[in-house]
Amino acid sequence: MDENRIQIEEIRNRLDIVDQISKYLELKPAGKNYQGLCPFHTEKTPSFIVSPELQRYKCFGCGEAGDIFNFVQKIEGIDFPETLEKLAKEAGVELKKPKVNSHIAKLYEINKLAGRYYYTQLKKNKEATEYIDKRGFDKNSIYKFAVGYAPGDFTLLEYLQSGDTKFNKKELLDSGLFTLKNSKLRTKFFKRIMFPIRSTSGKVIGFSGRILPGNDRGPKYMNTPETPIYHKKENVFGQYESRKAIRKENLVIFCEGQTDVISAHQFGYENIVAPLGTALTIDQLKNLSKLTKNFLFIFDSDSAGQEAMQRALILISQLNLQAYGASVNPYKDIDEMLQDNPKKLKTLIKNKTDLFSFLLSKKIEDKNPSNYSDINTVLNWVQETLEKISSQSLRSIYLKSLTNTHFFEEEVIRDLRKRVLDGEHFNSFNEEKSNNKSHSNISREEKMLALLLVHEEITIPEDFDLKYFINTNINKILKFIKSHKNVTKKLLLEEDFKQYIEDAIFHFSQLDEKDDMYKLYNLIKKDYYENKERELEKEIAIAETRHDNKESERLLKQFLKLTQEKKNETGDS
Ligand code: UTP
Ligand code: MN
Repeated sequence: MDENRIQIEEIRNRLDIVDQISKYLELKPAGKNYQGLCPFHTEKTPSFIVSPELQRYKCFGCGEAGDIFNFVQKIEGIDFPETLEKLAKEAGVELKKPKVNSHIAKLYEINKLAGRYYYTQLKKNKEATEYIDKRGFDKNSIYKFAVGYAPGDFTLLEYLQSGDTKFNKKELLDSGLFTLKNSKLRTKFFKRIMFPIRSTSGKVIGFSGRILPGNDRGPKYMNTPETPIYHKKENVFGQYESRKAIRKENLVIFCEGQTDVISAHQFGYENIVAPLGTALTIDQLKNLSKLTKNFLFIFDSDSAGQEAMQRALILISQLNLQAYGASVNPYKDIDEMLQDNPKKLKTLIKNKTDLFSFLLSKKIEDKNPSNYSDINTVLNWVQETLEKISSQSLRSIYLKSLTNTHFFEEEVIRDLRKRVLDGEHFNSFNEEKSNNKSHSNISREEKMLALLLVHEEITIPEDFDLKYFINTNINKILKFIKSHKNVTKKLLLEEDFKQYIEDAIFHFSQLDEKDDMYKLYNLIKKDYYENKERELEKEIAIAETRHDNKESERLLKQFLKLTQEKKNETGDS
């Protein structure tokens, strides 16, 4: 696998994406980039951009994007190994037969043996068995999930070294089960209940260790760190044990914790997984989508759980999957609910609602439909959420469910529909969905980001006030640049906002010499005030439909104040 990666890198270094793509279509220089008609959809104006700097392409018309391998694979309609072969020939790289990587094989071996060891230790430890009994896990569950116990001593190392296979220090360290202290190996997991994490093919790749009551060393759950075989952003707990039921039920339940997964299995619900102490990732969803397109999110009823479900909605909508939501209220989590009444999960599954409606109903639960600030809070949430959904048809479907709640007046919904469906200049969030948006009309803020990234050294003029940047992602990026010294493009590409930085580099083809950072800044300032004004106008309109003179007068005063500020700041009225 590693060998493979090195060869891919080698091919990538030897070939230039512009040369390769030019074999299939005509590319014209556009600033630092190249531009052409997208070969993957029909278009008359070119929105297919190739960036030599990123060695990637992106079509701003249809959203198709990738590197040289993706391009050739897609345009030739061949699979990855064939693509690799073709490009290797072109690059003059001789492909080695993938041989079993002994280092990786050793890491699997260590994890397998450790799992076996922990499993046998569980029976021997009184505290651990008592805890397991108290939680109600039966023998079958313990066997199925190979639940174990990491004792408070160094015998794991002895056990590993007593077998036929010998492991060296690097292998033991890379397994994630040991740490180094004073150049000595120490076991990472002490006095913890151990839950093996299995790959989709059933190999143990890591562990999640739960603290026992009375032990207060470290966090409640301690997981294997990133290793060559365990990548937390790709794996979820239960992916192996639940795979058959997920296929059969054509539904995967996403919950928060591994104890919920085990408990659910024990009560006969076997199509369930949990991310391991990380925020849900797109890779986790992609992997599971091979088994089903239906995802039911039942996260804990605290605010972290609700936020995670919100994140899930956005990710899911990027993948064309169906998301549902359900709540365990008044219980804390699935485990607690099942212990009380196992039938309740069945009802939850049966009564699941689509995730957007679910989140919306949670949002309005404690809100008053005749209170302005409540209306605005919900309205802003809806708008913010919808604008992050790149599919127009999904947005339209979600808008429909607004009507069912009877929370908003018809006019308000109509107004909202206009804004989020026609993509009017109205709102800031529009600028976030960089995907299916015409490349030729990037927003001013996007242009600013591109301008800042043209140079190697990235600096933001001292006198720029970032409050005027209302695109939340661009704002975040600018804040990051401003608060760190010597920010480079490379560093930014490694941060959470990679996607936006890449887009900005693709946007280089939109820049020309006339572009002036300060002029642009002033326009952005103006946009900011105009946006604010429109927002207030909207509130005034709501107040007026309700014949609330006092409120509309108050808002009007605010409006006048804003206009004055705008005049002072921009010299405009
Ligand atoms: P919870 O604190 O809700 O735990 O964390 P839980 O699953 O209900 O566990 P029990 O029932 O108390 O044993 C939810 C999940 O968040 C991750 C774990 O994956 C856990 O299952 N987590 C939590 C961590 O990774 N580290 C922590 O310190 C705490
Ligand atoms: Mn729990």
